[in-house]
Amino acid sequence: MISKIIGVIGTGNMGGAIIDGLMSRGIISPDNLLLTNRDIDKANMFYDKYKTSVMDAEEVIERSDIILIAVKPKDIDSLVPILARYNDKVIISVLAGITIEYFRNHLDASIQVARVMPNIPSTISKGVISISYSENISDESREVVDTIFSSIGEVYHIEERMINISTGLSGSSPAYMFLIVDAIAKVGIDYGMDRSTALNMVIDTMIGSAMFMRDYTEIEADTLVSKVTSPGGTTIEGLRVLDEKNILSGISSAIKSVIEKSFSMERKD
Ligand SMILES: NC(=O)c1ccc[n+]([C@@H]2O[C@H](COP(=O)([O-])OP(=O)(O)OC[C@H]3O[C@@H](n4cnc5c(N)ncnc54)[C@H](OP(=O)(O)O)[C@@H]3O)[C@@H](O)[C@H]2O)c1
Repeated sequence: MISKIIGVIGTGNMGGAIIDGLMSRGIISPDNLLLTNRDIDKANMFYDKYKTSVMDAEEVIERSDIILIAVKPKDIDSLVPILARYNDKVIISVLAGITIEYFRNHLDASIQVARVMPNIPSTISKGVISISYSENISDESREVVDTIFSSIGEVYHIEERMINISTGLSGSSPAYMFLIVDAIAKVGIDYGMDRSTALNMVIDTMIGSAMFMRDYTEIEADTLVSKVTSPGGTTIEGLRVLDEKNILSGISSAIKSVIEKSFSMERKD
């Protein structure tokens, strides 16, 4: 159970997912979770659900030990003047592209910061959450941050220079996974299978394949592929077309472009 006071600024998709994760697992008392949102009705929904406290941003910041910022990156500048008045707080930021240095430059050089990159399955507690800490973070703060994000998925501790890489690997990649599943299922539909059967068949195949791969992470993907292929068979025919159409190198290029874009959007000032 977290005994610190946690303030959440921005109760949209990601802020809301974290609130749901914390409350549904009983990790924090509702009295210790303070919420604010620009449209306050969106924060009041969580009062209705969990009886968490809702107040304006200044009061949340003043009363919290740890401040979780979950607004869009473009909205951070408007919060800086208020945050700067209370520079003894621990900051958790899930904002894409906003660096630890940004907070040190705008708030205080000694501020403790956790920069976090969650992904959309976090909203159903199946997320991948990459976390990098400012080097001065205390063990106590680190433990609280880890507890918060373990409630919505698998936590990976990485150096900050790897955060943009994680955006490519786990932050943006659910979008491509959705499209790959959809493209495969649509073929089934084209051949007359009903949508629900086709979609669920492919989703279950993706989940099962991922779990299979996790059991054999020491084995190269080519060896796993060889378990599904035989000369002159069906799978090898599909592999031939994947190769002919350069699909896999296209996917690699897409992920590289996400990473390059993330670096280009990064803000230190
Ligand atoms: N969604 C994802 O998959 C994902 C993945 C990784 C990282 N993130 C990061 O998570 C952050 C939030 O994304 P999201 O998808 O949750 O966006 P969202 O649903 O739009 O939520 C942002 C919330 O912040 C509120 N807000 C904006 N300015 C505010 C202010 N000054 N004070 C209080 N509340 C304010 C907005 O209120 P209003 O609705 O009233 O404007 C909105 O409810 C982003 O920085 C994004 O980079 C998201």
